[in-house]
Amino acid sequence: MNEFDELFQTSRAIYDQWNLTDIPFAESAEKLNRLGQVFTGRRAELSQVIGLLNGRDAKSILIYGWIGIGKTAFVRLLLEGLKRNWGDRILTARIKLEPNTDLSTAALIALARQMPHDEWAQYQLNRMGLRSSLPLRDRKTTAGGKLIFEGTVEESTVAPEAPQFPTLSFEDLLDRALQKHERVIIAIDDLDKQDPARARQLLLNAQGLLKGRAWFLLTGHPSGITHDYLISDRGLFDLPLKLGPLDPDTSYAMLVKYLNSARRRAIPNPDPANPEAVHPFTPETARALCAVAEGVPRWINRYGSYILLKAAELQAPLIDEATLQAGLAYARDQLRGQAGLTPQDYYLLDLVLEKGAISDDSITLEELEKLKVETFNEILPNLDKLVEFDLLKRMPTERATEYAPVPLLEGEPGDV
Ligand SMILES: Nc1ncnc2c1ncn2[C@@H]1O[C@H](COP(=O)(O)OP(=O)(O)O)[C@@H](O)[C@H]1O
Ligand SMILES: [Mg+2]
Repeated sequence: MNEFDELFQTSRAIYDQWNLTDIPFAESAEKLNRLGQVFTGRRAELSQVIGLLNGRDAKSILIYGWIGIGKTAFVRLLLEGLKRNWGDRILTARIKLEPNTDLSTAALIALARQMPHDEWAQYQLNRMGLRSSLPLRDRKTTAGGKLIFEGTVEESTVAPEAPQFPTLSFEDLLDRALQKHERVIIAIDDLDKQDPARARQLLLNAQGLLKGRAWFLLTGHPSGITHDYLISDRGLFDLPLKLGPLDPDTSYAMLVKYLNSARRRAIPNPDPANPEAVHPFTPETARALCAVAEGVPRWINRYGSYILLKAAELQAPLIDEATLQAGLAYARDQLRGQAGLTPQDYYLLDLVLEKGAISDDSITLEELEKLKVETFNEILPNLDKLVEFDLLKRMPTERATEYAPVPLLEGEPGDV
């Protein structure tokens, strides 16, 4: 056997022992293709939305919560479920909000992509330099009553042109969609990736859109949208739905589902009560993983993946306490060593680690000076970046903006 094959087989052998085909974890719901199999919990929240959908009037719903809490997963699962149960009575569309796009344009694009047989929808996409969801050769168009096939639409030569009146274009397209479907649901994801002031402005500009005839599901970030904005009677949303961390039992059940989605041989009873269900974890180390991840689905996924990688390297047949600790140490290194972090980011991170938490109230003038800024507000983008890198978390306080290290890094010496 040659060397590569030997290495390859050794590496595979441990997965065989674990009864896993591969590492089942994924950082973002966008990349996960077996969501239905692994999605866990959120029953109360799902039933709230499903309940609302029985009404005739279109509603707008905001799903909000911190990065990695499961907003995209929630929206994906919801739309897939609705489609399954309502069939053609409902038209669902989902889009990630790109920077420099207003909500009407995003809605227009999302809807047009779901109407591949509607010429006008395709024309709109084409003008913006975007492709239809259907391959070109499958598209048909009628000319003079005859059906012709367009083999060569010269898409690339059409200058991308943003719609001049995106809200009106959207309304027109919605009219067409509502002739064929009882309900049109548009999910606009990643409003949380915009900076808070901009997110706010986008929402204000979209008031008419959100009160219109389409259902809207938006995902956001609590920092962009102030409390009264959500709760007041004049609020933009009929239902603001907060997603929080999963409780320990739900986290554990989630871990079981992920592992079960990648079993080589099915486990007869993949129930959380069965210790086999978390193999190669032990029930204790599985619980410990859920605890250090504080029930944040993205962290469970990330740490879980690092732990399995480390355990594979160590050729550990079982993830016992020592292997878990080695895995968590590896996770810490990986998180700290991510590409894209600048010396300033490390400096700020270490400052937060040293202080335990950072806020406008707790930062000193001296520290601000060292960071070369005058006010705390100036370092908010840097702090948010560290949140996105899973190094810090924003504390769930309503008033002040406070950041603390993720529990994985807590109590660790800031040795960079
Ligand atoms: N309820 C859940 N059950 C199982 N996996 C989940 C759940 N919520 C989130 N996840 C997973 O956690 C990771 C982060 O979730 P995601 O939806 O991308 O977070 P967000 O959109 O809030 O940043 C993804 O891999 C996702 O599939
Ligand atoms: Mg998301």
